[in-house]
Amino acid sequence: MAKLPLIPLSAPAVGGNAWRYVKDCLDTGWVSSVGRYVSDFERSTAAFTGSKHAVACVNGTAGLHASLTMSGIGRGDAVLVPALTFIATANAVAYTGAACLFVDCEPRRFNMDFARLEEYLEKSCVRRRGGALIHKSTGLRVKALMPAHILGYPADLDAAQRLCRRFGLILIEDAAESVGSTWRGRHTGLYGRFGVLSFNGNKLITTGGGGMILAQSASLARRAKHLTTQAKSHPTEYAHDAVGWNYRLTNVLAALGVSQMELLPSYLEKRRKIAGWYRATLPGVPVAAEDPRAVWNRWLFAAEVPGAKDKARLLAAMDAAACQARPLWQPIPTQKPYRGHPSMPIPAALAAYARTINIPSTTTMTRADAARVAAVLRRAPLTRLLA
Ligand SMILES: Cc1ncc(COP(=O)(O)O)c(C=O)c1O
Repeated sequence: MAKLPLIPLSAPAVGGNAWRYVKDCLDTGWVSSVGRYVSDFERSTAAFTGSKHAVACVNGTAGLHASLTMSGIGRGDAVLVPALTFIATANAVAYTGAACLFVDCEPRRFNMDFARLEEYLEKSCVRRRGGALIHKSTGLRVKALMPAHILGYPADLDAAQRLCRRFGLILIEDAAESVGSTWRGRHTGLYGRFGVLSFNGNKLITTGGGGMILAQSASLARRAKHLTTQAKSHPTEYAHDAVGWNYRLTNVLAALGVSQMELLPSYLEKRRKIAGWYRATLPGVPVAAEDPRAVWNRWLFAAEVPGAKDKARLLAAMDAAACQARPLWQPIPTQKPYRGHPSMPIPAALAAYARTINIPSTTTMTRADAARVAAVLRRAPLTRLLA
């Protein structure tokens, strides 16, 4: 039998003006960290998201690291991060010398469970005079809350902001997966002191690798630009006023980014269409409810089965049908580098990992591709579809 072409999980869709803009960089020699596309990309991202400021950087992880450092996070501090997320969320915290304090997810959308987090903070922390929130068993100062918008679905930002006000925490949004997702009509990443987007190759739009720091104050945005460009404080002299980083995005990649940003509205529309195809071809499978305050970019879809054995079988069946599927991330507190970091109990994250796989959402897929994926899913004991 002829081998079926692979339906990828979430592959880059490069088109539109990509070739023209990248060629312009090559033709003019503006290939590195100076050139007009970097500021064009920052402007178009700010315009699309409604962010007052946007600072391009080399990838989302670097953007998170810079945002945490600029928020004064370091040794002796703890940052509340999801137990169930891509490991970069935690790594960015670890780079600062701070500890992660892992938060379980809610079972519907796998975002941080803010209700259980509130109870946990009430029991496990004390507020010192002066306002510092101290984690009793470790002595760490809990300084920031960094939710990620899991699979692109907005976390409850009302609850996040309320918790931050109540416990005196800084809110930083890991919006790496949520370009195009909004909460109460406002783009994700605009609710925190910083919000960080990723343009990694598997994201809805990509620069190959890249990121964007969203900030709502001019001084924070200036600081972000300064620190991500080696903290050079003089136009010609090599004078530096801080330990900065080489976290710049190059002009070639930004050129690709400008072209991708132009295509983003049509890509978001296409993802809605793919979700519709899945729903129509899987009648009877419960679809995860949507929060009326959230608009989801549908970055990654997911399918749930009753348990780990069903999951392994379904992954194998998808593989045999050349439909790329992946398990959810292994919860971070179970992973070697983070076993020593404090965590609240994480039954929901462990259950989500045991039961859930991600299924193709690639922008270029066709109705026939979706039908091929659905045919595999129909043979599995599906309990829920997130699409
Ligand atoms: C939740 C989350 N945080 C952070 C990152 C890191 O972004 P990047 O790959 O651009 O460094 C990613 C994805 O790659 C992610 O999914």
